[in-house]
Amino acid sequence: MIANDTVTLATADDTREFGVRLASVLQPGDLVVLTGPLGAGKTTLVQGIGAGLGVRGAVVSPTFVIARVHRGQLPLVHVDAYRLRSLVEVDDLDLDVDAADAVTVVEWGSGLVEQLRDARLEITIERAADSDERRVSLTAHGGDWAQRLTALRSASGALSPEW
Ligand SMILES: Nc1ncnc2c1ncn2[C@@H]1O[C@H](COP(=O)(O)OP(=O)(O)O)[C@@H](O)[C@H]1O
Ligand SMILES: [Mg+2]
Repeated sequence: MIANDTVTLATADDTREFGVRLASVLQPGDLVVLTGPLGAGKTTLVQGIGAGLGVRGAVVSPTFVIARVHRGQLPLVHVDAYRLRSLVEVDDLDLDVDAADAVTVVEWGSGLVEQLRDARLEITIERAADSDERRVSLTAHGGDWAQRLTALRSASGALSPEW
């Protein structure tokens, strides 16, 4: 089942706030795949997710690290797959956490990490040409993601007119 939602976020703080709200529907074992050009706001969104999950340590761009594990009640695995060429390399990261116990969020993961799980949430971020506005599309793939997006939407109230 595929469900689609779009939200418009005017500022970086709005994007972080949206990440906090998104975190409220995340569960252990989740895979979230982020797509969007450099500077789109992928890491900014992960900062909000990390805040919402209550993880320790600042979420920063992991470009030169590939992956970071942030400990918390629900750990966050933040991966930047930009330099990875295959799923094997993602599997080989040998992170010090069981992915089934954590939320895994992968920047640049599209076309690479889908096979890791039966279900995933895909998020695509587009930038406006003439403002800070970001258009964020959420697509549920499998599992109960569609229901969770519905729950998120009803909890988000007047976040944006489109939402
Ligand atoms: N509405 C917005 N949402 C997200 N980031 C925004 C927004 N407006 C401005 N920005 C800025 O754009 C940049 C996005 O950078 P980053 O999150 O690192 O992007 P990415 O990880 O996609 O390369 C940050 O400097 C952020 O402050
Ligand atoms: Mg980034």
